[in-house]
Amino acid sequence: MTKTPPSIIALDGPAASGKSTVGRRLANALGYLFFDTGIMYRAVTWIALNRDMNLRDEEAITQMAQSAQIDVRPPTQADGRAFDVIIGEKDVTWEVRSGDVDANVSLVSAYAGVRKALSEKQRRIGLRGRVVMVGRDIGTVVLPEADLKVYMDASAEERARRRYDEIIERGEKADYEEIFNTMIERDRLDSTRAVAPLKPADDAIFINTDELSENQVYERVLAMCAP
Ligand code: DC
Repeated sequence: MTKTPPSIIALDGPAASGKSTVGRRLANALGYLFFDTGIMYRAVTWIALNRDMNLRDEEAITQMAQSAQIDVRPPTQADGRAFDVIIGEKDVTWEVRSGDVDANVSLVSAYAGVRKALSEKQRRIGLRGRVVMVGRDIGTVVLPEADLKVYMDASAEERARRRYDEIIERGEKADYEEIFNTMIERDRLDSTRAVAPLKPADDAIFINTDELSENQVYERVLAMCAP
């Protein structure tokens, strides 16, 4: 008898642990939806910065997150993007990945009301199944019933190097030290926040990707899904 592949797949881990790249490939191979939940937190942060809101005003940011219209659509440009991120009519796909958003997204995503608004949407989508959902709290909070939970990690040095290479590859300027420092601070905030902190679920399979190529990680996760 052949086993069916897991339907709800949760991939969690810190920034630049490789989870988005692996998740995207896995979803393609299985014919599943790929959903990168970090985009939603980034989009809310981008809106707050764009409107010059006070990022410490939890109530105002929460209200905005509840009504924010964030569209994630199939990619219209072949510039390395996995999808288009549209806010209003504006394509903010790369802007949500800016240093400014990186530096503020952990503050915004620590707010309980913001998390509630976004994770309810994520949960509704995830429960439809045939999905690879990527984030920080998917296996622990958003979809604790996931059929497969993987937690990917790597040292901060290695993750900063990967992020640096990504930016240089896009033809933009990057400063390794700055990326490294922002990453350490983001890790600290994401893993110490009161609500849904970054941590592996008890039943997650842990992969340290320091010594592994992207392909090796992908093959490992794919093997976990093999019927
Ligand atoms: O995966 P990423 O780097 O794009 O995520 C950006 C930020 O969003 C991250 O620093 C913490 C937050 N985030 C979260 O709190 N929960 C998630 N499920 C996904 C992201």
